[in-house]
This record gives sequence, C-alpha cells and structure tokens, in this order.
Amino acid sequence: MMAQKEETEKPALKVLITGSAGQIAYSLIPIVARGDVFGHDQPIILHLLDIPPMKTVLDGVVMEIQDCAFQLLRGIHAFVEEGPAFQDIDAAFLVGSMPRKEGMERKDLLAANVKIFKSQGQALANFAKPTVKVLVVGNPANTNAMIAAKYAAPKIPATSFSAMTRLDQNRTAGLISREKGLSDASEVKRVIIWGNHSSTQFPDVSNVTYKGEKLPFTAHDPEMISLIQKRGAAVIAARKLSSAMSAAKAAADHMHDLHHGSYDIVSMGVVSEGQYGVPAGLFFSFPVQICPHVKKWKIDESFQLDDFAKERIAITTKELMEERDDALKACEV
Ligand code: NAD
Ligand code: LMR
Repeated sequence: MMAQKEETEKPALKVLITGSAGQIAYSLIPIVARGDVFGHDQPIILHLLDIPPMKTVLDGVVMEIQDCAFQLLRGIHAFVEEGPAFQDIDAAFLVGSMPRKEGMERKDLLAANVKIFKSQGQALANFAKPTVKVLVVGNPANTNAMIAAKYAAPKIPATSFSAMTRLDQNRTAGLISREKGLSDASEVKRVIIWGNHSSTQFPDVSNVTYKGEKLPFTAHDPEMISLIQKRGAAVIAARKLSSAMSAAKAAADHMHDLHHGSYDIVSMGVVSEGQYGVPAGLFFSFPVQICPHVKKWKIDESFQLDDFAKERIAITTKELMEERDDALKACEV
C-alpha cells in the first residue's frame, strides 16, 4: 500500500519564502504547507530564507514546522544565503524586506528595500528554474517586482513576476460586505485595484457583483476609496506592526490563482505593455484573468473607464513612474 502511494505521488514543488523569520511568513508557511495554495495532493519542499542575524529565529521557525507534522511536506531547508535558497525553485514568495512604521509611506522603503530585489532578481536568473513564478510582497511591491524582473531577465520573463495588490482587493470586498450587510465577503467579486499598492491606488467598485449579481451601487465612492488607500496605515497605527495575517492570506490567494487559474477577475501588479494607457514596463495593478486551462495571466482590457477613473489612474501612474526612476537610480550604486 505504502509503495503504491509513493509511486503515484506528484513530484514535490520547491517553494521559496523569503523573510521566513518575519511576521507574514509565520502566517504564510502553514497555509502553504497545508496545501491550500498548490493543492491538497501536491507535495512541497520549503526553502526558507532570511538574513544571517535572524538565523536563530529561523531555526526556531523550522522547529515549529517540524512539530506541525504537515502531511504534504517533503523537506524544509533554512538558508541565510541566496544561492542555495533560490536553487531550482518552482515558486517564490518574495516577502523579506523592511516593513514601514507609523508615519511612513511605502515608497519611503525604496532606498532600503530595492537592492534586496536587485540581488534576488540576479539570484533568480542564476539559480531558479526558468519556469519559476514569483510573487513580490515586500514594499514598495510594484516597483520591487519591476526591479527583480529587470535583473532576472532574460532568463526569466517579466510576465513570470507579479506584485501583490490582492490584499487591497480582499480589503475592499470585506469593507463592501460589512457596509452593505452581505454575509459572505468572499462572494464580493470584480473589485478592481488599479495602480500602485500605495495610498494612490484606485480601488474601483463600479463593476462589483455579489453571488454573481451586479450590485445596485456602482458609483465611485471617495470615502470608501480613501479607507482602502489608508487601511495598511490604520492597521499599523492599531497593531504597531504592519498587517501580517491578512497579507499572508492575500499572498496565498494570489499564488493559488496563478498556479490553478481562476474564473474570477482578480487584481495583481503585472508588467504593462501599454494597456489602458499605462506606460510599458511599469508593474501596475490591473484586472487580470488567469485561464484555468492555460494558467497564464492576461490583462482584461474590456473595462470602460469614466473620467473619474481616468483621473485616479493618472495619479497612481505618475507615482509609479517616479518610483521607477528612483529605483533605477538606487540600483546603479
Ligand atoms: P518583518 O520585519 O516581520 O519580516 C521581514 C523579514 O525579512 C525579517 O525577518 C527580515 O530579517 C527579513 N529580511 C530582510 N532582508 C532580507 C533579505 N535580503 N533576504 C531575506 N530576508 C530578509 O516584516 P513583515 O511584516 O513580514 O513584512 C515584510 C514586507 O512585506 C514588508 O516590506 C511589508 O511592508 C510588506 N507587506 C506588503 C504587503 C502587500 O500587500 N504587498 C502587505 C503587508 C506587508
Ligand atoms: C499593507 O497594506 O498592510 C502593507 O503594505 C503594509 C503597509 O505598510 O501598509
């Protein structure tokens, strides 16, 4: 019986989580190890990366993972060097980087974090499988994804990278369900996050459905937009730490949909080829379809933008262009 089980088992996927001694990883690792991201029949080998001063903490995280006795886990490897951590990986959650503190904007992290993503882009090119799928969570996520993709080229295509705005999508679904008395937030669909994962993002509720039905309120709501734009800061003000449980859930949702495809429109920061007038090369959050058969994302270009939406999209585009220029300069040094 046992031999038969081993024969039919899928080959294990090597999954890298950077920042594994940190807060988001602590919530994300069990979701991945349980099979909620890559499938409940998909064995996993975890590659966990953090920096050398965090080695002892990382060892403690490994002990706890061992003590969970996860059914799908076929190996746990902890690293404090990029080379072996990125070796032959199939998927990467790039979380490791500095979080902001109260009073900061996410782009204030650019100087500290962008070089991590330059180095990890190079490590992806040098060590990862060419088919690797990379989700950038570390802030400023869109611009870090652009930099990682730049330094991983040409071995790994820019289309294999995406930046996380799923947390903003989930936040908007949660807010709508609370405000409108809808009992199941996960059934609030077609929320679109346009642009940067920052306070200039444009959460667009004008196409929202609940349980497949279009909702009667489709007007843009500046108050709701502002709440979503500032939600990360509100969590920091309350917790004195940035969001972690909700960030891990969003990272899991995002990677799940990349891996399996989705029949829903989802938001992710992906490389622009000029869609909706966004300059090519920016990592911009768009409405994306991921066909469950092909499992490749595609920007849905069918949405009509009114003047309000165009104005908001222009603001967040401008911020991303500025971040791009600052990041490219920081990478030259
Ligand atoms: P944290 O400080 O708890 O953990 C970060 C970990 O990364 C630390 O253990 C740190 O040692 C490690 N690290 C730093 N440099 C590294 C490197 N070069 N390689 C590997 N590991 C490294 O922070 P956190 O709360 O887990 O947040 C991580 C990042 O995610 C932050 O940048 C935060 O702003 C961002 N974030 C993004 C979203 C989003 O929606 N995109 C949501 C929440 C948080
Ligand atoms: C969030 O949206 O919660 C994260 O990006 C963390 C932050 O700095 O707000």
